[in-house]
Amino acid sequence: MKSPAILSGVLALFLSSRTSATALDTHTRFACPNEVLAAEWFIGKDQNVRLAYSRCDGDGRSIVSAQGAVVPLPLPLTKRQGGMPNVCGATCDTFCFSPAGGGPNEGDCNIIADALLFESENTGDFFNASAAGSASAKITLQYKSCTTYFLNQSPAQLTYCRSDWSKLTTFIAPHCDAAHDAHGGLCVADDQRWFVQVQHT
Ligand SMILES: *[C@@H]1O[C@H](CO)[C@@H](O)[C@H](O)[C@H]1NC(C)=O
Repeated sequence: MKSPAILSGVLALFLSSRTSATALDTHTRFACPNEVLAAEWFIGKDQNVRLAYSRCDGDGRSIVSAQGAVVPLPLPLTKRQGGMPNVCGATCDTFCFSPAGGGPNEGDCNIIADALLFESENTGDFFNASAAGSASAKITLQYKSCTTYFLNQSPAQLTYCRSDWSKLTTFIAPHCDAAHDAHGGLCVADDQRWFVQVQHT
């Protein structure tokens, strides 16, 4: 198990670690190029959290590296080797987007986190994200000012847990807020195969 450590101004953290995050102005928000929507509906106890399946496409596709930087594809082959398809509980590192201001409302993010737990208990904890660039590689949840998404950056389908996504949402939102000179952030897997982003809608 990896212990939380401040690495050159970047916070490396274990999924449920509780510590303060550091914003870095070198980290920009990942923008999904030429997003193509496949399906959308509403989830949660009150059916008020929008869920969308989509993919990122087009020229100049890029991904988020393990260091939290948006880098162009293709990656060196060694960085594209796959691991087990189920990535529940996998460690990721959190990077915040600076500067302060314009981030999501934490209360709105908590509504999403609660909806994820509700679906975990009622639909099941697992969900699949299809291979990078295919129809449901990006799974987005939105409630008012808060948007969070899981993006599969790997060439194979991944299975992730709604309960883990819920925890990441409630971790990133308050640790990458204005008080931390940030406006949202992301947690990218150590092996770069996926990340979860929390941002303003
Ligand atoms: C995910 O995909 C696998 C393999 O295709 C399938 O067996 C499994 O039922 C899917 N899980 C969910 C939650 O859809």
